[in-house]
Amino acid sequence: MSDYETHTFDVLVIGAGGAGLRAAVETEAAGATTAVVCKSLLGKAHTVMAEGGIAAALGSVWPEDSWQVHFRDTMRGGKMLNNWRMAQLHAQESPDRVLELESWGALFDRTPDGRILQRDFGGHRYARLAHVGDHTGLEMIRTLQDRAVAAGIEVFMECKIIRLLTDPSGAVCGALGLWRESGQFVVFHAKAVILASGGIGKTWKFTTNSWEGTGDGHALALWAGAELVDMECIQFHPTGMIWPASARGLLVTEAVRGDGGILKNRDGERFMFSYIPEYYADETADTIEEADKWYDDKTFRRPPELLPRDEVARAVNAEVKAGRGSPHGGVYLDIASRRSPEYIRRRLPSMYQQFKELADVDITTQMMEIGPTCHYAMGGVRVEADTEASTVPGLFAAGEVAGGMHGANRLGGNSLSDLLVFGRRAGIGAVEYARGLQHPPVPDPGEVEAAAAAALGFFDHGGPENPYAVHQDLQEAMQSLVGIIRTEADLVRAVELLDELDGRARAVAVEGPRQFNPAWHLALDLQSMLAVARATTLAAIARRESRGGHTRDDYPDPDPEHFGKLNMVVRLDKGTVTVTERPIPPMPDELAALLAAER
Ligand code: FUM
Repeated sequence: MSDYETHTFDVLVIGAGGAGLRAAVETEAAGATTAVVCKSLLGKAHTVMAEGGIAAALGSVWPEDSWQVHFRDTMRGGKMLNNWRMAQLHAQESPDRVLELESWGALFDRTPDGRILQRDFGGHRYARLAHVGDHTGLEMIRTLQDRAVAAGIEVFMECKIIRLLTDPSGAVCGALGLWRESGQFVVFHAKAVILASGGIGKTWKFTTNSWEGTGDGHALALWAGAELVDMECIQFHPTGMIWPASARGLLVTEAVRGDGGILKNRDGERFMFSYIPEYYADETADTIEEADKWYDDKTFRRPPELLPRDEVARAVNAEVKAGRGSPHGGVYLDIASRRSPEYIRRRLPSMYQQFKELADVDITTQMMEIGPTCHYAMGGVRVEADTEASTVPGLFAAGEVAGGMHGANRLGGNSLSDLLVFGRRAGIGAVEYARGLQHPPVPDPGEVEAAAAAALGFFDHGGPENPYAVHQDLQEAMQSLVGIIRTEADLVRAVELLDELDGRARAVAVEGPRQFNPAWHLALDLQSMLAVARATTLAAIARRESRGGHTRDDYPDPDPEHFGKLNMVVRLDKGTVTVTERPIPPMPDELAALLAAER
């Protein structure tokens, strides 16, 4: 082990998106030496794909808003599978986190009297998303990055972590990384490690995720003995670009609908009125006239285009399946007939540019063709709500890689506030843990050697497989068999395919040198993607009901008596991925009362 480049810190943060940077700012401010390591370049994180805003009950547009209503909306959106304590902390603390971000230099659009402007999003009772145009995630990253750099936090870029390291007691105490450029290994020793590595979207064919979203953090946690929760719940954002083919999956922000955009099928019908679920019937407008009044007067019921994402994605999917889709297999998103060109260009500048440049479509005069795209994993590392500690000592998780906060379905905008609230809390939790250690933990050298040898093994064995082909087949399998609508037969078939793909991934042969070898990196990423694919599929088989981002055609209804009271927990047992049902702890009466309150 001594041959490898080695760095020692109190806290190692894996991931440089919103959660990782917010966590690092906290640990450094608390006096802990801190490093951030990221697979890409600083500033390039999936956080930028949360374009429409940060959900927080600031009440600057609707003074009636409160953390209590935000909590209620989040739990309803998550179909009650959420870790209610996380949902409570998130609703209570997100306003302070937004104001803190503003004090650190983040720009926001403003109300006429100078307060932070908030916009509407699906499932939120009030206009609640603090935003800047349609590039809020980018602004968040820019602000946190400036803050982290100014604080002198060390950032290791283009470094992929391939293993978490543990001491003889099993506590996490560092990580083994690989410099993407040189292909050399690097060892990080740390008293505590915070995973903030984002999502798993590259496991599916059509996704908003960039190349980094390969589930590395989920897999690292699983391999280190941590538990994952709610892995069956995958968010398909209803509005991804579907044409041209090269742009398929790219995000079309929910802000388009929040700002008045409507969905139409091939026949020009505003079809969402046919898909209002019982669960939301009391708060969703059932006529166009009523829906349209809501934008100015929140005493009316919300338009059905602003139902939570799981409902809208299923509706779009159903319209296409029924033969009422657009020429390229989606539906239409229309803001041109509803808002002025000036309004659209001011509120949605990135969307305007994106469609103009990629599809030659002018969204101020033409409709957009859109369809569902894999956007977000609700499932992730099971953490303790207040500290973000995982079930393995020394390992913390925040942001998309952590599970629980969003239950079965995340509301749009709740991700950016999640990153801030729980990034900060993970930082505090990790520093407290590190300070409580009697002795600095020492990683097992055998673990480093074994992980390095396994990674290098792809160069030696002369196997017949190409990592790009394996990745493509994995994405096809997950898209067609573990997509928006699932059945037992499809899921069982997916497990058979994953068994085959596991074998093929082990038989991947990599050619060329270790220096910047993308095929080698993909061979390693495939290990993560196959692990999360299996976790998702097995959890999806186990949940025999439909709920949020998990729809079973063979069990089309929710089962409140059994599955509604359980989380699916995934862990490794002697190398085998297992799923167990874990009861959701009872909610305190005062929170339960909020759920029953009139809206
Ligand atoms: O549609 C969007 O702007 C995405 C936001 C989010 O995922 O929170």
